[in-house]
Amino acid sequence: MTTALITGATAGIGAAFARRLAADGHDLVLVARGAARLRELAVDLHDRHGVEAEVLVADLSQESGITAVETRLADRRNPVDLLVNNAGFGIRGRYLEVPMAEELTMLKVHCEAVLRLTSAAAEAMRERRRGAVVNVASVAAFVPRGTYGASKAWVVQFTQGVARDLAGTGVRLMALCPGFVRTEFHQRAGMDADRIPGWMWLDADRLVAAALRDLARGRTVSVPDPRYKAITGLLRLAPRQAVSRVSSSAGRKYGPR
Ligand SMILES: NC(=O)c1ccc[n+]([C@@H]2O[C@H](COP(=O)([O-])OP(=O)(O)OC[C@H]3O[C@@H](n4cnc5c(N)ncnc54)[C@H](OP(=O)(O)O)[C@@H]3O)[C@@H](O)[C@H]2O)c1
Repeated sequence: MTTALITGATAGIGAAFARRLAADGHDLVLVARGAARLRELAVDLHDRHGVEAEVLVADLSQESGITAVETRLADRRNPVDLLVNNAGFGIRGRYLEVPMAEELTMLKVHCEAVLRLTSAAAEAMRERRRGAVVNVASVAAFVPRGTYGASKAWVVQFTQGVARDLAGTGVRLMALCPGFVRTEFHQRAGMDADRIPGWMWLDADRLVAAALRDLARGRTVSVPDPRYKAITGLLRLAPRQAVSRVSSSAGRKYGPR
């Protein structure tokens, strides 16, 4: 029996990881701020699949929250085999429209928490010579797009670099780069999700299944859908300035977060 720790497990992609990993027989540590939703999910997954689901209430924008999860990941008596750094959120406005406090909170959750939790997990995994970390980024990592895109670009670069540094240790890392996924993300950020064309939406359960296949194949970056593979391929070929112009003007209200 292996154990997976998932941050942002109360909703969306994180909850989809929890459902899928529980169905596959993994014990879970479920992390988020919403205590009631976490407990409800833990009971449901235990009843359905017979797995142990631990609840760890933590706000990853706070020092105490990050420390609590680091401590759990460092517990050698109850090792974590798979870490999914998924917690995150979007910001609607453009640069200078967004309060600085919100930008800094985003960097804390998307970058500092990911760095510290990956490090706590990887150190323990390296000792055991096995384990994996999935860091949820976004296709927004590939376009110039304010702090959100920059933070997700950091997640991709960081994950690829660490995967290289830890090659041969038994610890694997993968950055997951979804396009638009139907979750609570856009509503929470106050974005108008109705303006996003139907063909662009991904299903969270299918996304997670594809991500886990890519992890098993040893990928370090996963863009798990043919539509978004094509889009990211074109983005790499297009002139940077043109991408920047389109990405900046094309709907901060509903861009890929
Ligand atoms: N949906 C998309 O279109 C999309 C596309 C690309 C990438 N992503 C990325 O996918 C990840 C998950 O997003 P989602 O779409 O599943 O969004 P979601 O449905 O809004 O879920 C976000 C999760 O993150 C948790 N969370 C947010 N802030 C937190 C904090 N300070 N501390 C601890 N947990 C926190 C939330 O739980 P609580 O509120 O209970 O704390 C919730 O469980 C994010 O990193 C996002 O950037 C999403």
